[in-house]
Amino acid sequence: MEIAEILSKESLDAKEIACLLKAAGSEKELLYEKAAQVKEMHVQNKVYLRGLIELSNQCKKNCFYCGIRKDNKLIKRYNLSDEEVLNAAYFAVEKHYGSIVLQSGELEGEGFTKRIENLLRKIRELSDGKLRVTLSCGEQSWKTYRRWFESGASRYLLRIETSNADLYQRIHPDDQHHRFETRVRCLEDLRSAGYQVGTGVMIGLPFQTFEDLTNDILFMKRIDIDMVGMGPYLEHQQTPLYEFRDLLMTKEDRFQLSLNMIAVLRLVMKDINIASTTALQAIDPTGREKALMVGANVIMPNITPEQYHEVYKLYENKPCSGERAEDCHSCLETRIARTGNEIAYGEWGDSLHFGKKDKEKKAEV
Ligand code: 5AD
Ligand code: SF4
Ligand code: FES
Repeated sequence: MEIAEILSKESLDAKEIACLLKAAGSEKELLYEKAAQVKEMHVQNKVYLRGLIELSNQCKKNCFYCGIRKDNKLIKRYNLSDEEVLNAAYFAVEKHYGSIVLQSGELEGEGFTKRIENLLRKIRELSDGKLRVTLSCGEQSWKTYRRWFESGASRYLLRIETSNADLYQRIHPDDQHHRFETRVRCLEDLRSAGYQVGTGVMIGLPFQTFEDLTNDILFMKRIDIDMVGMGPYLEHQQTPLYEFRDLLMTKEDRFQLSLNMIAVLRLVMKDINIASTTALQAIDPTGREKALMVGANVIMPNITPEQYHEVYKLYENKPCSGERAEDCHSCLETRIARTGNEIAYGEWGDSLHFGKKDKEKKAEV
């Protein structure tokens, strides 16, 4: 089927999505043009900034792809102090970022739950309610999710990593900490606990097929996700998956495929928030800008104190590593200006998709 014909359709089936994911050359340009139009029409040419605070690189898990997995004994572990977290949050307030993201390796237990609760309350106080807070702290119980929601978090990011349960099991250890069903259950729990829910996948994993990626997009649509962050898989030497590096596409191909995924997702889910992820910039120096031009509308500048960047490396070549938040901020401003997008300072930038569902729900009551 002709690309132009597919692009003129209101809704896309699996075959059409797969065809768009493979688009190259002039066909790819048509796809990107359409995605840019849809973005402008539904979410405008705005970019929302979310200051990313990498709370801790301690993690109880052993995902085969990740540089901060528990069994990686080669890195130093850290935990930001509350003061460091609050200072970073304050930086975001001063810079008029609409929101921040608290991300950490996966930890569990009452101590951790309480710590996050406490931080959420303090951030609410310090920002006078002006900051939206997103959490990215892995799989937890419904009760923990709810406690954090009640303490002030309103969005949660939990990537499904891949919607293919077999592939999921292949890139994780076979134990009770790494179950596909648990991941899906958590996404459902987050929804019922009240959050705007974000998920995402890695693109170009060993053993991953175009069919898998097509299904990833359909999965996001089926679970009616509000936000997505996805990017290329990047091999890390200190991880078990490194063994399969010969099976990988070139980095350039993984990058192109990631852009196609973002563009297609924008066509399929027109009013969600889509992040232009840092991993894109690990391959292409202007990777994040390119993603903004084909459908993405969120960027997460790293505002973690710079001395910790070196040891929060999920993958190699992480960009902006060691840059002070202030410097990265000005650098990003210039970069974003070149894309024809405008930074939406002082706006929360809630997912419009979530807002519409929420309104419908209230109207039903
Ligand atoms: N390459 C790309 N992304 C990775 N992540 C973890 N390790 C890697 C890697 N090697 C992503 C996962 C996780 C998120 C926090 O970082 O998708 O959910
Ligand atoms: Fe831990 Fe997340 Fe890395 Fe898995 S991907 S090892 S849960 S930090
Ligand atoms: Fe971070 Fe340039 S975008 S230093």
